[in-house]
Order: sequence, then structure tokens, then C-alpha cells
Amino acid sequence: VYTEFYQNPLPIPQDKPVKYQYTNPITGKVIKYFEIDIKPFQAQVYSKLGPVNLVGYDGMSPGPTIRVEKGEETVVRFVNRASMANSVHLHGSNSRAPFDGWAEDLTQPGQYKDYYYPNGQRGRTLWYHDHAIEHTAENAYFGQAGLYIMHDPDEDRLGFPKGTYDVPMVLSSKQYKSNGDLFSPASETVSLYGDVIHMNGQPWPYLKVEPRKYRLRFLNAAVSRAFQLYFEKDTKTGTKLPFTVVASDSGLLSTSVSASTLEISMAERYEVIFDFAAYANSNVTMRNNRDVQADEDYNSTDKVMKFIVGGNVTDPTNNGAVPSALSTLDTPAPKSTVDRTFKFERSGGEWVINGVTFADVKNRILAKPPRGTTEVWQLENNSGGWSHPVHIHLVDFQIISRTGGKRGVLPYEAAALKDVVLLGVNEKVKVIAKYAPWDGVYMFHCHNLIHEDHDMMAAFNVSALQD
Ligand code: C2O
Ligand code: CU
Repeated sequence: VYTEFYQNPLPIPQDKPVKYQYTNPITGKVIKYFEIDIKPFQAQVYSKLGPVNLVGYDGMSPGPTIRVEKGEETVVRFVNRASMANSVHLHGSNSRAPFDGWAEDLTQPGQYKDYYYPNGQRGRTLWYHDHAIEHTAENAYFGQAGLYIMHDPDEDRLGFPKGTYDVPMVLSSKQYKSNGDLFSPASETVSLYGDVIHMNGQPWPYLKVEPRKYRLRFLNAAVSRAFQLYFEKDTKTGTKLPFTVVASDSGLLSTSVSASTLEISMAERYEVIFDFAAYANSNVTMRNNRDVQADEDYNSTDKVMKFIVGGNVTDPTNNGAVPSALSTLDTPAPKSTVDRTFKFERSGGEWVINGVTFADVKNRILAKPPRGTTEVWQLENNSGGWSHPVHIHLVDFQIISRTGGKRGVLPYEAAALKDVVLLGVNEKVKVIAKYAPWDGVYMFHCHNLIHEDHDMMAAFNVSALQD
């Protein structure tokens, strides 16, 4: 049992260098070319046990951070030097369908695939991760996940913290065996909640910070665990410290939202400005609430990491007040009708959407939105005591309502465009999106990766032509 709390520093994934760049002869835009090897590696997590065997992008977990400017294109060659087939999805990108990480578009060991990304959307925090059919849980859990940060020059006017004051925070939750290796989710069919909370691959780390504002970019990359994070001074003081939520899946919120807890389910991103100024020369602990949805808790799943706040600020710039108006969202025109209803259920030992699994090849295309149309989808959780973070590829959606459970639309959800929404126990959620800009067959699914693999995933076909 891992009991070394806050003994190891928070690792910061390194930035991926550009290999070369050239001009796209068709679009006239700059293409930055990156090359990433997917390969096995070992890491020493437990000081007294054997190393853990992982497989990651460039042999690290999280993978290297890819940084791009909005409007410049990227080609990323993913070379499979591992022993399992893979498929890479850039989550948050409206990639063309052949580059979207379709689950059956497998790159076999020894092969590579070049993925082309347009980066034409609003700046945002994206992530790239494995999406291989029936093996996504295992591949992502053993390390195939990394950040992809698209900078938008429109953000610069807001004066947010930059450089070392802008910190990636990749959450995950795993379970170890007594030899130091990971317990695999491969044969799980229900969930793997994990008893060891990691940030950027390190269980319960600490980070030394200065008494000033930081931008914390959260991604929940866990297989099955949703978090409800909060901060407290020292430990167990019971007072939840305030922070400001400024961005989510599709980048900036419309307005900044003050909060003292942050709910973040699998694949969601939230960016928070946290001001450590009032806590100079003390500690701030980041905690996780117990009883988040129907997730299982263990002894230490209420602990996340610790910030050790120093006494000096080395760079006082980009430390001003967070404006209340942040951006204009490209929100679809409101509509009162529901175009389609999708029921997320458990049936015959499988997780299904409207009775269909992804293995049901003839029936798995559940929607054909004409390209450019705005549709309202009602997502219903009829599966009993389970929650499902629903991810729709290609689009950014607005959450219109959440009914049937204990809560409505959360204030920071209401100010965002999202690509994942948590469908809690018994909830119904309505989302509105414009199905554009490309034609193609795209997936939508539960982002509890074990549900996704077994087989709560379906597809929609966006087409200019209708039959
Ligand atoms: Cu983050 Cu279809 O996945
Ligand atoms: Cu699910």
C-alpha cells in the first residue's frame, strides 16, 4: 500500500520539439511536423518495490506536451514501437474523420500513421490518447495519454499567468500490485476506480509555488474515476479555498466563475486561476471529495497533492485581477425541440446506447445529422447506479439542461462549450451543437474507458447528402 504522501515533486511533462516545418501547398498555412514513438518504458514509482512497466508516447507518461498556435497546422507521426495495435485520438479537435482515431483504424506494431490536424478552432487544452477498439482502457491507463495545448493570441489580452505559472495537471487513478507493477484493467468489464491518485504520473506529489496567481490546467485522464476537487489551507481545516474557473473543453468560458469545488469527470478539462498570495509560507492541500457520483472510494482517494507556498515572487507580471467577461462563445441558436434521444444503459452484461454496442456494425450509426444543422440531443442515464461521462467527437456543445438527479447545470458548465458532459445517476442532459464543419463518420461514447471498451460507443454520420 502506497503511503508516501507529498514526498515527490510534481513532474511537468516536457514540451515536444518540432522536427521541421513547411507550408501546406493547399491551405497556404504553416505545418509543424512532430514525430512520436509509442514505446515501452519503466518508471520507479514505489521506492521499495520493482519498477512499473508502462507504454507511453516517447516513453513517458503523460506523453510530451505538443504546443501549437491557433491557425497553424500540425502533422504528427505516431510510430508504433509497442506490442499492441493502437489508434490515436486528439480529443478536443475537429479533425477530419481519417485522422480522428477511429477505433478500428489500427496501427499495428512496427507501423506508423501520420495524423493531420487543422487547429482552426478556438485555443484550448486538448489531449491525445489511445482509442484502439476494446483496448482503450488498458492503453491509456498504461501511459498513452498526453496534452496538446493550442494557444490562441486572443487570450493574451487577459494577462493570465504564463510559463512556469501555467501548470499542466493531469489526474489519474490507478491500482498497483505488490511487485510494483500496475494491476491491469484489461479484464475488467465494469470499472477500475483505482486507489492511488496520480498527478502527471506521480502519486500524491507536491509542488513548490510562489505566493501569486497560477493557471492550473486540469485534465482528468482516469479510466473510471470522477473527481470533485477542492483546496484547503494545510490539511483538514475544513475551509474550502476560493478559486476562479476560466476555461474548459473548448477554451475560455464566456465569463469567469468563482468556485470552491471543481467537479471534473473523465476527459473533461477545466482551467483554474488559483491565487496563492494569501498563503505565503504555508501549505495548500488539494483534496478530492468522497462520494463523487457512484464511484468507489479507498483510504486515500480523498487526497490529491500539496502546494508548498514560498515567501517570494520572482516574476510579478501577469498576476492581475481575473476579468469577469472572458470571451464570446460560438453558441448555437437556441431550439426548443429534441432531435434525438440516446439512452445509456446496461443490458445483457454490456454497456449499450439505445440498445446498440459498437460491435453491432450494422446498427451502430445512430444518427445522420445533415452537415451544418443544429441538433438537440437528449442523453439519458437509465443504467442504475452508474455515471457516464458522454463524449461527442467533432463538435463543441452547449449544455442546455440537466434533470432527474441531484443537480442542475453547474455554473462553470453553463459558461462553457464542452465536448464531454457527466451524465450522473438517473440524469437526463440536453446538449445542443452544430454538426459541422466536415462530413464524416464520428464516434460518440462513454468516457469511462471500461464502458467504452464494453461497448458503450456508437457513431454518427455527418453528411451534406441525405438519403
Ligand atoms: Cu477522449 Cu473518443 O475520446
Ligand atoms: Cu459509462
